Amino acid sequence: MTVFSAADFSNHEQVVFVQDAETGLKAIIALHSTALGPAAGGCRMWRYASDEEAIRDALRLSKGMSHKNAMADLPLGGGKSVIIAPEGSYDRQALLRAFGRAIHSLGGRYITAEDVGTSVADMLVIRQETPHVSGLSTEPGKGGDPSPYTALGVYSGIKASVRHKLGKDSLEGLTVAVQGLGNVGRHLCAMLHKDGAKLIVTDIAQDRVQAAVEAWGAKAVGLGEILSVEADVLAPCALGAVLTAETIAKLNVSIVAGAANNQLATAEDGERIRQRGILYAPDYVINAGGIIAVSHEILNQFEEPVVIAKVEAIGARLAGIFAQADKEGLSTATVADRLAEEKIAAARKKNAATTKAA
Ligand code: NAI
Repeated sequence: MTVFSAADFSNHEQVVFVQDAETGLKAIIALHSTALGPAAGGCRMWRYASDEEAIRDALRLSKGMSHKNAMADLPLGGGKSVIIAPEGSYDRQALLRAFGRAIHSLGGRYITAEDVGTSVADMLVIRQETPHVSGLSTEPGKGGDPSPYTALGVYSGIKASVRHKLGKDSLEGLTVAVQGLGNVGRHLCAMLHKDGAKLIVTDIAQDRVQAAVEAWGAKAVGLGEILSVEADVLAPCALGAVLTAETIAKLNVSIVAGAANNQLATAEDGERIRQRGILYAPDYVINAGGIIAVSHEILNQFEEPVVIAKVEAIGARLAGIFAQADKEGLSTATVADRLAEEKIAAARKKNAATTKAA
């Protein structure tokens, strides 16, 4: 298998492969960039079909974090880790502690947090081995689970998208299709419902769908239907790579704005969406609410009103990207990537100059 020439290897600074035979841990920690600060990004635990799939996920997600942290103007670089969930039974605590030791060996170059398949409880286990972990709700003065902040950022982003694309200041009467009713999707639905939006939902977990139908009068559709239902907004809040040539051709919405990381399957898909006249809110810009909250925790500056104001500013940041994309006739994804890369390159240059001067 190729490594440095792999399609998703794009200037990553360091990729660490971790194995602990005793606990069954197999993990990949990818550090895309530490130019702006320590590489921060969550830990995903998933039953990957192959090692290649896990590596690809780690590489893509860590680059996404670099872009996300840069675009949110945080003093953080980008990284991500994936744990390949073992087959059969295993001691989760022992496995996570082994993972914590691996993070610790990086000396603070990587800071982890929750992601799909890991929880606050898991982070507390990792904390027993290393201080380089965030998202710990039981510690006083800490922000805890970042999902509500992610949902708030997505909600602000949906409102900005609706303003830009539909010229409306309210979500009243609009329909939003939400794919995935997990930690983020559920909080998002509650906010949208409060604003008078109609919801169409789906999830693998039927109990979550049922709860959404009961709590918010949501319309439930099948897993295969959500990407083509007629709605004003599609909010992907499950896993990545949902926007492909095939699914984009069938989209029946004006706006795609949701929490999932890496929504575009390929680099060309941002342009495909633009050509269909659909407004796409770049995923790592709209879903930065969680990392904004986490960064305040990491820097020991967690003050809820300040964090909320910064998360709500995601709407204005997106509005700027939308306007720039319109002006240049480019996809919103291209404009966001360019802005993020410019910020990282400027930080690299500054660091190099400082090192030289020293
Ligand atoms: P979660 O694991 O709590 O929820 C994901 C939900 O999607 C689950 O209910 C799952 O059953 C459902 N799901 C999985 N595959 C599906 C499919 N094919 N169709 C329909 N539903 C499906 O995850 P969480 O925390 O809500 O995150 C959602 C997305 O947002 C993920 O892509 C995550 O990487 C991203 N994200 C989350 C952040 C956070 O603060 N939790 C921060 C930034 C991004």
